[in-house]
Amino acid sequence: KDAAAIERLLRRMTLEEKAGQLSLFFDDAREDAVNANPAQVERAMADLSAEIAAGRVGGLFNGIGVASGRALQRIAVERSRLGIPLLFAADVIHGLRTVFPVPLGEAAAFDADLAERTARAAAEEATAVGIHWTFAPMVDVARDQRWGRVVEGAGEDSWWGQQLAAARVRGFQGRSLRDDDSLLATVKHFAGYGAVAGGMDYNSVELSDATLHDVHLPPFRAGLEAGALAVMTAFHDLNGIPATAHHGLLTGVLRRQWGFEGLVVSDFASDVELVTHGLAADDKDAARRAILAGCDMSMASALYNRHLPALVREGAVPMAVLDRSVRRVLRVKQALGLFERPYRSLDPARERSALRRPQTVALAREAARRSVVLLKNEGHLLPLPAQGQRIALIGPFAQDRVHLMGPWALWNEPAQGVSLEDGLRAALADPAALQVVPGCGIETPLDGGIAAAVAAARAADVVILSVGESDALSGESASRTDIGLPPVQQALAEAVAATGRPMVVVLQHGRALALSGAVRAAPAILAGWYLGQQSGHALADLLLGRHAPSGRLPVSFPQASGQQPFFYNHRNTGRPQERADETRFRSRYLEVTNEALYPFGHGLGYGEIVYEALSLDTDTLAWDGRCQVRVRVRNVGPRAMREVVQLYIHQRVASPVRPVRELRGVQAVELAAGEAASVAFTLSRHDLAHRDGQGRERVEAGWFDLWLAPSAAAGTPVALRLLGPTPSPR
Ligand code: IFM
Repeated sequence: KDAAAIERLLRRMTLEEKAGQLSLFFDDAREDAVNANPAQVERAMADLSAEIAAGRVGGLFNGIGVASGRALQRIAVERSRLGIPLLFAADVIHGLRTVFPVPLGEAAAFDADLAERTARAAAEEATAVGIHWTFAPMVDVARDQRWGRVVEGAGEDSWWGQQLAAARVRGFQGRSLRDDDSLLATVKHFAGYGAVAGGMDYNSVELSDATLHDVHLPPFRAGLEAGALAVMTAFHDLNGIPATAHHGLLTGVLRRQWGFEGLVVSDFASDVELVTHGLAADDKDAARRAILAGCDMSMASALYNRHLPALVREGAVPMAVLDRSVRRVLRVKQALGLFERPYRSLDPARERSALRRPQTVALAREAARRSVVLLKNEGHLLPLPAQGQRIALIGPFAQDRVHLMGPWALWNEPAQGVSLEDGLRAALADPAALQVVPGCGIETPLDGGIAAAVAAARAADVVILSVGESDALSGESASRTDIGLPPVQQALAEAVAATGRPMVVVLQHGRALALSGAVRAAPAILAGWYLGQQSGHALADLLLGRHAPSGRLPVSFPQASGQQPFFYNHRNTGRPQERADETRFRSRYLEVTNEALYPFGHGLGYGEIVYEALSLDTDTLAWDGRCQVRVRVRNVGPRAMREVVQLYIHQRVASPVRPVRELRGVQAVELAAGEAASVAFTLSRHDLAHRDGQGRERVEAGWFDLWLAPSAAAGTPVALRLLGPTPSPR
């Protein structure tokens, strides 16, 4: 019935109306309404209304608000010839009004259920302001920390990326897409964007088919299998073909191999950029190439409106191709229930009641707390006592309420941001024991700043140093050649550390950093990412021991910037570095060891865990069989711990050769002081498999090493032999 309704509608549409459905526009009229003068806004709204009424707009993005949304939807429904409702989209990446930690931070919580809950809460807020569709989750695997967009994803591991992709899609989309609070999810940016050369945004990508299929594509597939109905293309070229015109990806993989039936949208004007790439001769050629490759909807450029009708009339684009894309867009509108209820998610009462609800803010605090990774805690410096100590809080982020939101918090309200100072003052028994000095700006010195910081440190028993990256040093188009701290902050750290006061470093950042000097040497270091609006409360909860840190690194911290790309699941090479003092002819840099400063999966708590009795129930796994690997974890420390037990595999002999370790499972256990638990994983050959260059599952019989360990660099493996398939009797 639904399909027939779409076919009837298609038959009534003109070429221009079809192109209109494939055109998504930046909602600058509403986006700018806050800043622009009313006459300007009125003019922009009038222009937009005329376009909508003419059937030239399929959807709008990054404008919010129920009253204005209803007005725009009314024009589409009542004044356009066919009354097709608009789709309202937005970059709801880590919350809307309530800002959660950036996705990379949340990945550090190693809790897919938490990611699902925050995505659900973000969907509840976004749909309350009239949004139907989010451009999230970003599922690009990022193995080069110079790339600024590392912050938007799940980090360097493909398996973990798959778990989070699925969880976030489930969270955004909820029980049924038709529900008022359900938000259509987009997996982006298809595909390989995380591998831009040199970590420089928008750069070319050179990837083998095997790495593309084994590492970069699986999180997309996981998001689609969880039900995402939209895919966004990307800005880069993959092996010479720009992603927005990549037939092999958009049609070969996505449609033919995976059977995807939702819609593909270009990234912002990435279709016109086919000309700049040098693939298309002109804009019209770009439109032709993009739609023929399988890009259904054009974002922001108006390229399809301008050229598709003529291209179809001239026979350069078959009507069937145009219809197929229009059908996909209409089907998505139908799946959201927009034909029957065009004003869904445009309810003024919900807009008043659904934003910043106490339970959402509490969830933001929980997520922030859970995202923090304790990298180091020498001499049990942390937690700090809540009273009886004078604390100097020093650094450019000590009082920050803005940068802590992180990139892509487009609708945050800075007044809601809780700075580290706010958090500590609220939590300390004697707030007067806290002295706060910025010491320097984020990238610039402050007059007398370092002297004041040193004086404050001298007058204190302990220093908390709050340093890192501004929100502009991370995110889109924020690639860095040096992933260390800005030099002024490093100078501040050196001066403060020279006072000899014990120093706790609290990092704010969107990537793994290269730590050096006094920061690296500090006795306690917390990786705090951008934690969102509850940042200060969450950090105070951990610093003062109301809660224990439990996050784990989703990205490896290198020894130095120049090691990038740097990730744990690399291949062994013929000359691996085994010991730093070995012969020179090894695969290594001259200045630093290959070992991560802090490896993937690493994270401490206030307890202390030992791993005991790693065992397998059998050392041979039949081709169609199952086996169990088990370990006992015991908390021998003084406080409760949440331990994230990580399952890694490695095949000793295979072709192609396999990475030194690959994550294949995680399980978290809560352990009181002194408590022990047994953690088991059941495996089949599918857990030992990888994808070949055509995307097929591949597994070879042979010997595997298995680890259950607290990080990618820890533990001693057990050996498992996978037997080949038994030949079937003739
Ligand atoms: O969703 C984003 C994308 O990730 C980068 N370019 C712009 C899009 C829309 O804002």
